[in-house]
Amino acid sequence: MERTFILLKPDCVQRRLAGRVLARFEDKGLNVIAMKMLRITPDLAKQHYAEHVEKGWYPTLEEFVTGGPVVAAVLEGLDAIGVVREMLGATNGLQAAPGTIRGDFSSSRQMNLVHGSDGSESATREIALYFAEDEICAYEPTITPWQRAADE
Ligand code: CDP
Ligand code: MG
Repeated sequence: MERTFILLKPDCVQRRLAGRVLARFEDKGLNVIAMKMLRITPDLAKQHYAEHVEKGWYPTLEEFVTGGPVVAAVLEGLDAIGVVREMLGATNGLQAAPGTIRGDFSSSRQMNLVHGSDGSESATREIALYFAEDEICAYEPTITPWQRAADE
């Protein structure tokens, strides 16, 4: 089992797409094991997007992600990190494949609705950035035997 971090960005909340986006992850078979709504501060934005802070477009990204409430969550499942990234699609909604979340709902390079961790190191770092250990509520869903074979 693998854990990944997702963030429903301010455009997702403002467009009232949070429920539909979360439903896609639930439908896929991922467990939501932590979730909260919050307002990202400039300081948290700089920590979250540390790899991008020096980029010319970072100030507009910070303005966007701090501009409204977000929903942070931890998803758990087999290959959760890669599965979520595939479900998100390419960064730019105009290039993201139809059927992906960004491909279906976004026409923007910046306002692409959802963040997902891009690897196991970033997943661990981002989960710890948004959640305390005791805010994570892992559980075994009773439906698991009908979602995959026992040896998968
Ligand atoms: O989110 P993802 O890993 O697909 O893309 P990224 O290249 O790591 O960029 C992080 C986020 O910055 C994107 O999801 C966009 O919201 C934003 N971005 C932007 O505002 N302008 C750009 N030129 C590129 C990315
Ligand atoms: Mg990235």
